[in-house]
Amino acid sequence: MASLTIRKLDDALKQRLRLRAAQNGRSMEDEARTILRSAAAGADVRAEAAGKPRARRNAAAQPAPTPSGGPLADAKRVLLIIGGGIAAYKSLDLVRRLKERGATVRCVLTRAAQEFITPLAAGALAGSRAFTDLFDATTELDVGHIRLARETDLVVVAPATADLLAKMAGGHADDLASAVLLATDRPVLIAPAMNPHMWQHAATRRNLAHLVADGIAVVGPNAGEMAEAGEAGTGRMAEPLEIAAVVEQFLGTAGGERTLAGKRVIVTSGPTHEPIDPVRYIANRSSGKQGHAIAAAAAAAGAEVTLVSGPVNLPDPIGVKTIKVETAQDMLAAVSKALPADVGVFAAAVADWRVDKPTARKIKKQDGGTPKLGLIENPDILASVARKATGRPRLVIGFAAETDRIIEHAREKLARKGCDWIVANDVSPASGVMGGDRNTVQLVTEHGVESWPPQSKDEVARALVARIAAALAGASR
Ligand code: CTP
Repeated sequence: MASLTIRKLDDALKQRLRLRAAQNGRSMEDEARTILRSAAAGADVRAEAAGKPRARRNAAAQPAPTPSGGPLADAKRVLLIIGGGIAAYKSLDLVRRLKERGATVRCVLTRAAQEFITPLAAGALAGSRAFTDLFDATTELDVGHIRLARETDLVVVAPATADLLAKMAGGHADDLASAVLLATDRPVLIAPAMNPHMWQHAATRRNLAHLVADGIAVVGPNAGEMAEAGEAGTGRMAEPLEIAAVVEQFLGTAGGERTLAGKRVIVTSGPTHEPIDPVRYIANRSSGKQGHAIAAAAAAAGAEVTLVSGPVNLPDPIGVKTIKVETAQDMLAAVSKALPADVGVFAAAVADWRVDKPTARKIKKQDGGTPKLGLIENPDILASVARKATGRPRLVIGFAAETDRIIEHAREKLARKGCDWIVANDVSPASGVMGGDRNTVQLVTEHGVESWPPQSKDEVARALVARIAAALAGASR
């Protein structure tokens, strides 16, 4: 069978085909095939109406279903700000990937982005016009930069160029993209892309540190070949699928309702590491998955969240200010600094003891015999916050990871530490909770014990956030 040669179509037809293909997320060849198929189907119907036999069609020849549904189908909205870098072409694919997942996408292109891709292409793929100008009268009267900034669940900046990072860190607002970024109160995810030297430059490092401290989440960049011939290193924008996965994960946790808007929440997560010498430490087992999921769910519900995390192998949750610490003492200092808050959730597995005299030099086996470690008890972070005479959060929630007599231990901890709730769970090796993605918890309060069904850690986080919101709204604690 002859193949389709798009090249031979006249220019006007090619342009219309290109637009249709972009709108439907297909290649031009696929779009042409789809048109031919539906024309043939129409011909079949007409032939049938005229009493002629219907041509045989096989299943594979049916038009591809238009993506509806998808994991983000509850109309999750993404505002995609496209910066001016060669990676901008990948952002067109990102629009498709987000749409495939059911997200509603609006695009803003910087002036520099328009050197690489056109607003027409971005708008056609997104299914709505792309925005470019801060001082465009139509845009301002129609949507306006404030509405663009607010009518979204997440702002994604991809590619985030060195210049855009600098503008964001400095709080500039001299074009539509930067004005929207300054005006938004929604979580922001950036996908940096730039030359490795620019990425390593002290100015970029400073700007990035600023942005991370402001609670902006980062995906990538990856290492690899650069667009410039012969250049390689870290600076390639994360792949559209990687970015889409982070967005999906975030928007999946977003319950939609901003039940904690205006509330401040502190969450501790992960283990603490208590040094013995520069290479060895004492720690509890903890992946940080549950604590991080709670921080993400609280942020998705609109809270201003500070996550104080020990060493974990997890990305910083989107829309959360993450403070990284090593030891229990550092964790207590970071929590104290983050107060006041409406809610404190203490999910960290804090090491109970630290070594009294960690050595500056690595202990050698030849130093003589087995080293004798002197241990001192660490401060109890949960108890110190729960027992605060002034400035205590309204709701203080602890965790109790137990291997036996779970409720008994949880009740004892509730009383001993002075907190309002204890989320108790079975972490015996058979439970598979440690490091796993599922959790079976019991919520212990002064009113009694609630047993929650086995759920993913994200579901536990969302359920806990819903309970927190209800408690703050006045229902009983
Ligand atoms: N916790 C804390 N600071 C500590 C120890 C524990 O904030 N130094 C918090 C944990 O984050 C958790 C709760 O206290 O929310 C219970 O932690 P757990 O280790 O189970 O309690 P312990 O008091 O250490 O009791 P034990 O280890 O004897 O079971």
